[in-house]
Amino acid sequence: MSQVPHYVLNDGLKIPQVGLGTYKLLGDDGFSSIVSGIQSGYRLIDSAHRYDNEEEVGRAVRECGVPREDLLITTKLAGDAHGFDETMMAFDTSARLLGLDVVDLYLIHWPNPSVNRFVDAWQAMIELRDEGRIRSIGVCNFTPEFLYRLRDETSVVPSINQVELHPYFAQAELRAVHAELGIRTQSWSPIGRAGELLSEAPIVAAAEAHGVTSSQVILRWHIQLGSIPLPKSGDVGRQRENFDVFGFELSESEMTAIGSLERGRLRAEFDPNTHEEY
Ligand SMILES: NC(=O)c1ccc[n+]([C@@H]2O[C@H](COP(=O)([O-])OP(=O)(O)OC[C@H]3O[C@@H](n4cnc5c(N)ncnc54)[C@H](OP(=O)(O)O)[C@@H]3O)[C@@H](O)[C@H]2O)c1
Repeated sequence: MSQVPHYVLNDGLKIPQVGLGTYKLLGDDGFSSIVSGIQSGYRLIDSAHRYDNEEEVGRAVRECGVPREDLLITTKLAGDAHGFDETMMAFDTSARLLGLDVVDLYLIHWPNPSVNRFVDAWQAMIELRDEGRIRSIGVCNFTPEFLYRLRDETSVVPSINQVELHPYFAQAELRAVHAELGIRTQSWSPIGRAGELLSEAPIVAAAEAHGVTSSQVILRWHIQLGSIPLPKSGDVGRQRENFDVFGFELSESEMTAIGSLERGRLRAEFDPNTHEEY
């Protein structure tokens, strides 16, 4: 493991406090960007079957020069494969595309409540973990209600819930449920897809005070909340910038000022009670 500070998940897996998002990193350019991310220090790589880049991620793992055992590779179960047998098959496909015998983290991508088969998918993931084909199992975009269902119906609590989280949408209630259940939060769109969030006054003020960039302030805010941010960048300079967030600390008043930016999801339609992805 590189020098990034880490957490220990509820199943004992050590995980870095920041990871590289890979949505839209595709083809040869995507492969090169994933390699440059790993060479810049990232050891946690966030992919998904739906991103259509598992082959690029697998190739980067093989060719980056960092030992396989130092990397944590995440991929996700797509929404068209909920159900026990479907999940078994989907996992085989992902593992084959990645070229990996063991996947470090496998997450349900969206709960898709109208399908109502995420518990069956979860049972398959428990079996795959018990067989040693996955090191850690978790979910994305799960509400408290869905998390409690997994616990109550299978007795296995996810190690991770990866959700939309940034200063506009800090997910305080959900994070409290995670703390109660022993689930680690991961943040998607952690810098708000680099929109107007980067120019918000409390963020710019903290960036000036610490001699860092807005993106670094926001990523540091995630780390101080205890959530693992997964910033995506295809650019080596921005990848390094986003990784360099362990050399300063935000004060309590800076954290509070950034927290005051709360206004909700980037796009209201991304509510997991109604938004479904296949
Ligand atoms: N589980 C889920 O349902 C879910 C949903 C969405 C995303 N995700 C995961 O979370 C990752 C991150 O989310 P995201 O890609 O939506 O958003 P994000 O990481 O908040 O923002 C990515 C955007 O910011 C730009 N950027 C990155 N670093 C920057 C910097 N330092 N300064 C200025 N611009 C910068 C990137 O452009 P450049 O590439 O040009 O730098 C890109 O356009 C995804 O890649 C994916 O792995 C998961």
